[in-house]
Amino acid sequence: MSNPDSAQIADAITDILTEMVEDLELEFEGRPEPSHRLIADLGLVSVDFIHLIVEIETHFGQKMGFHDLIMPDGRYVDDLSIAELTAFVEQRLSGGEVIHATPETHAAVLDSSAALTDEDFVRFQHLMPTTTEWGMPELPGRNNPRVFFFLSSPRSGSTLLRVVLAGNEALFAPPELHLLYYPDMRRRREALGNPQNVHLLTGTVRALMQLRGCGIEEAEVALQESEESGQTTSEFYAMLVKELNGRLLVDKTPSYTMRREFLDLAESHFDSALYIHLVRHPCGMMQSFEDGKMEQLIPFMRNSDFSRHQLSELTWLLTNTNIYQFLQHIPDERQHRVHYEDLVREPATAVTEMCAFLGVPYVPEMLDPYRDPGERMTDGLHTAAQFSGDLKFHLHARIEPDAAERWRRSQSESNLSPATRVLAEALGYSLA
Ligand code: A3P
Repeated sequence: MSNPDSAQIADAITDILTEMVEDLELEFEGRPEPSHRLIADLGLVSVDFIHLIVEIETHFGQKMGFHDLIMPDGRYVDDLSIAELTAFVEQRLSGGEVIHATPETHAAVLDSSAALTDEDFVRFQHLMPTTTEWGMPELPGRNNPRVFFFLSSPRSGSTLLRVVLAGNEALFAPPELHLLYYPDMRRRREALGNPQNVHLLTGTVRALMQLRGCGIEEAEVALQESEESGQTTSEFYAMLVKELNGRLLVDKTPSYTMRREFLDLAESHFDSALYIHLVRHPCGMMQSFEDGKMEQLIPFMRNSDFSRHQLSELTWLLTNTNIYQFLQHIPDERQHRVHYEDLVREPATAVTEMCAFLGVPYVPEMLDPYRDPGERMTDGLHTAAQFSGDLKFHLHARIEPDAAERWRRSQSESNLSPATRVLAEALGYSLA
């Protein structure tokens, strides 16, 4: 079949946008025109871009690598016109070169940096939600299911790795579960059932749908029953594991790494849990954090007086310190370290080594994370934006090796604090 021409592409995109405007109940009226901009004119917000991209790719039946359009210089564009979007899709469908958005649409410069001190680190540690706020469970007896946790700071490629693992039938790797630090399912709902956090509940719903081969409603009812009956999180984990018929449960929830006590729960609740530490170069993680304005999503960070740049480094430092110190107490045969840079540059080697560690066969399909989105649970519950994980995963079309070094355009290792440098070196990076 020949490629659609630009008028057909523009029509398809306009139809998708018209439907989105209706579904999202935006104020925009009439039919979108090529000159209309997605945010300024139609009233979309940046997270809707991912929904739009997934709809466009589904319509045309191919991945297009929207990363090149949305983040041409490694920074998010501020806005896009429908004409720019159409031109990009046309180029991609004809296999041509990428058209970048105009320079003036690029995002503004990031916060200026100021070197961190030890006092900053301690102050940041105290900002972390306390165990009381998070409803730290009393330690119950071991309930024995074998679970594999992979631990990382946010923005370290954890969604990518989760989806890679989900391509192996010996593993069950659902989206972020957000279970470990809640005593029971009812209190979990109380903490997360609000507009800012409700998407964090979707990982368990998606897991139940997959395990039981059921639809959203049935899975939501099952979750509600679990919440109303006061099922403990340990019982919920045990139930998941029982339904897995021998597959290994993978729990990837980066927020477990915010406090050392949360990680200790994994060790005290589960028999011989396995751990993978996914680590990314601090500057790479920081660039990703800053691009995504992550502090806006995290209330205690949003209200702090640290700059975005400082928060990005403090997050890398605190989460990796917690993981590093925790793993000092875990036998070698139960832990494995993976560098994001190796995962994206040499995926076959990194994934083969991981499979050997987990005791599961290596399957080459694991390296094609965009295959079988349903099986790999990369679809959001209702829309792509309700995906509890990194939405940028949808902007790529394959495991992207260039992502490893992109930070070099805007970050410098020389600005890192001594504590970050020491830990990065201990984790295997040689810094300039
Ligand atoms: P950047 O923001 O530097 O692009 P996490 O899932 O832990 O939040 O990590 C997010 C990072 O993983 C983002 O980094 C994202 O682009 C990157 N990522 C997602 N899918 C990827 C892919 N297919 N190849 C390379 N990197 C990917």
